[in-house]
Amino acid sequence: MGKEQMPRDFFWGNSVSSMQTEGAWQEDGKGLSVYDIRPETATTMNWHDAIDEYHRYEEDLDLMQTMHMNMYRVQISWSRVCPDGDGNFNEAGLAYYDRLIDAMLERQIEPMICLYHFDMPLKLAEKYNGLISRTVMAAFVRFSEMVVRRYADKVKYWLTFNEHNLYFTDEVFEISGYMHGNRSLSDMYRIFHHTMLAHAQVDKFIHDNYSDLKIGGMLAFAACYPATSKPEDVFANRQIDEFLNHNLNSAFANGRYSNEVMQYVANHHIDWDFQAGDELILSAQKADFLAFSYYRTDTINADKIPSDAAPNRYLNFGNEKNRFLTANEWQWTIDPLGFRNVIATLFSRYGVPIFPVENGIGWRESWNGKDMVVDDYRIAYHQSHIQAMKDAMFVDGAKVLGYLGWGLIDIPSSHADMEKRYGVVYVNRTNHDLKDLKRVPKKSFYWLQKVLADNGNNL
Ligand code: BG6
Repeated sequence: MGKEQMPRDFFWGNSVSSMQTEGAWQEDGKGLSVYDIRPETATTMNWHDAIDEYHRYEEDLDLMQTMHMNMYRVQISWSRVCPDGDGNFNEAGLAYYDRLIDAMLERQIEPMICLYHFDMPLKLAEKYNGLISRTVMAAFVRFSEMVVRRYADKVKYWLTFNEHNLYFTDEVFEISGYMHGNRSLSDMYRIFHHTMLAHAQVDKFIHDNYSDLKIGGMLAFAACYPATSKPEDVFANRQIDEFLNHNLNSAFANGRYSNEVMQYVANHHIDWDFQAGDELILSAQKADFLAFSYYRTDTINADKIPSDAAPNRYLNFGNEKNRFLTANEWQWTIDPLGFRNVIATLFSRYGVPIFPVENGIGWRESWNGKDMVVDDYRIAYHQSHIQAMKDAMFVDGAKVLGYLGWGLIDIPSSHADMEKRYGVVYVNRTNHDLKDLKRVPKKSFYWLQKVLADNGNNL
């Protein structure tokens, strides 16, 4: 086999959410989201400033351009462009995204837009309890269609819900605007179903109206191993894959949920608000690509799972240490072969292009004000994962559209904590001290710049 060359139109870039980057939580008419009212604690920050990209996007885009990135995945904050979630749209908020997108295009950086990343407009959470309500589902579709219409001539790549399978786990109650209720399995399945219906409607809207736009479903792919070769471990592992991966990808790519999940719902009399007409809505979608985030793998021990647990909840109980893998401080394993496995599996199952849109390693780092942060562990992580992706492409035959690292200019972790950083650029702030928010390239910045200059052909 000769040395394979990466496709010329391959995307390399960075990926973020709005609440983890923008700041400006009350500027230019932005409404509140559920994140904006989360209090600062001893170990976490508030979400008011993030890394202040709202005012520093030119500088951040310059850094991305210097690294030869040609894609930036950003989110359009629902509460910034529609302060009440379902009322009037806010021109001043939209004007920010006009400027941001134009600034990307000026630098030959292709925008990818994600429409929802956990930050429900507060009004919709308070009034309707978030996405458990069909009113909120409809409001999301209305917001999405407005955004697609506005940017269709400039933005070709679209995602709806970040890490869509989290809406089928207990995290759903934190990320869907759910403010009260008994967190029952029915509530979980109901919210999940509404988000899938919303996605299908946005998918159909895009395909009915724009032939050059592409939309994909996006998962936090549940990459998991059985703890042993014991049949119960292997079976539980397969169920996790069925419920948390295949059930969604089957809907995104083929327009229907997994039979096994449908059977589970029927057997357990789960009330998930499946109405007449929903099947038709689901069947109208056709993903142009399948996107996912990947950081680590988990390991499942069936002995630890209560016999009455729903398979989509297994990972709450059975996650074991994997003695074959090293991990970071937060016990997130480092597993490049797992990454190759996800890409190869997805392409082989669904036959549509695959797009890893989040990958990276969190590490505790500080800057002494003068020397470069030396992050060889991050270089090793990205190098091994990019190589694994190339193996999936050139050995396993998968079609991959691009590779986006997560938070490559430092942002707070999803738990509102600057102690866990993913960047190849250091951002000078801590949880409780905004300092000067200076952007300082780490050693991995120069490594990535060299790799991308050559389109990833030499690692
Ligand atoms: C994903 C989310 O779960 O992983 C991001 O899309 C998050 O919002 C990222 O920041 C990394 O997780 P964490 O908890 O380390 O920030």
